[in-house]
Amino acid sequence: MYLTKEEEKMLNGEMGEVQERMFRLLVRLGDIYNADKMIPVGSVQVAGVSYKSIGDPGTEFLEDISSKNTKVKVLTYLNPAGMDLENWNEIGFPKNFAKNQLKIINSFKKMGIVITSTCTPYLAGNLPRFREHIAWSESSAVSFSNSVIGARTNREGGPSALAAAICGKTANYGLHLWENRQPNIKIKLETELCYNSDFGALGYLVGKIVKNKIPYFTGIDNADTDQLKSLGAAMAASGAVALYHIDGLTPESDLVNKNDLETIHIGKKELIDTYSKLNSNEKPDIVIFGCPHASLREISSISEKLNGKKLKKPIWICTSRLMKEASDRMGYTDIIKKAGGQIVADTCMVVSPIEQMGFNKTGVNSGKAANYLPGFCKQKVIFNNIDELIEASV
Ligand code: F3S
Repeated sequence: MYLTKEEEKMLNGEMGEVQERMFRLLVRLGDIYNADKMIPVGSVQVAGVSYKSIGDPGTEFLEDISSKNTKVKVLTYLNPAGMDLENWNEIGFPKNFAKNQLKIINSFKKMGIVITSTCTPYLAGNLPRFREHIAWSESSAVSFSNSVIGARTNREGGPSALAAAICGKTANYGLHLWENRQPNIKIKLETELCYNSDFGALGYLVGKIVKNKIPYFTGIDNADTDQLKSLGAAMAASGAVALYHIDGLTPESDLVNKNDLETIHIGKKELIDTYSKLNSNEKPDIVIFGCPHASLREISSISEKLNGKKLKKPIWICTSRLMKEASDRMGYTDIIKKAGGQIVADTCMVVSPIEQMGFNKTGVNSGKAANYLPGFCKQKVIFNNIDELIEASV
């Protein structure tokens, strides 16, 4: 791989031990994937933030590198942590967990990483432009940035994203290259989608079918960004899909070559079957919305639906701190609280220790959360649309 003089210096340790270690990791990845060179990245998003995911070894690694005066070179955001970083005690996150989580956050902060703790950085001040090279690691954010924004990123692991942040570069391979962004399977949708959970169910199903491929959708005439984030998140979770195109909706759909592709047809029956597959038919002991993190539009819609209701089961809405503050200002948070629900910022149902907090059966409208909750959090899942889930909570 071609390296500039400055990059050679990084590799030889002339810019310090941490940069050398981090750059070596990027070069090794580049060699494995036959990258021709390194490219600068406009921003980074680092996953592996929750104490639940990285434990003591990850905490010690971060404490070690942050103690060596390491600073990131580009705008770097964080994925959700394992708890609400401000209201963890009030919400009931375990004290010992909180102590460890705060150590991790402190290390990231020392390195200059913005403590955003969200999987929707594009809604919280980190919006890449079309064709900008970035190094993001959260799978739903990777899918959204590649597909809906048309930025370019591979799905980075936690360490490689951190390395990109510290070096300001990534290796030029995979989805950074135009030839690798071409679709290789067509999905013809033959039914209407209404709820965001319909997009989640479709994403879950397509991910299972296409596995790692790049689907080109037809038959989706309209979708807002909340629906697209739901679709992409579920496909990323069930099939590691990091990029999709939708005819007439996503920015590269007119530019790619979509001729002569195998076509899969999906109709109403397939969607109904997916709902049944993901739904344990139990009664939820908690309902959690906001996977990926809820937008202000979603919070506003939930607050409207909860207005005047009294919940028998708790409802959480997971979101970024920024969205929560806007919701506080608009009075949505108070309406939700009055009904018995709460906005939980900085974390989500999958990376927080909900199983330690007494929850066993969780209702979600997200295909991604439905995919992960049984394995990561030992939950029985109730997958349904927002109206049915609210109905099950009153
Ligand atoms: Fe985000 Fe957690 Fe879902 S990180 S995409 S809310 S599993």
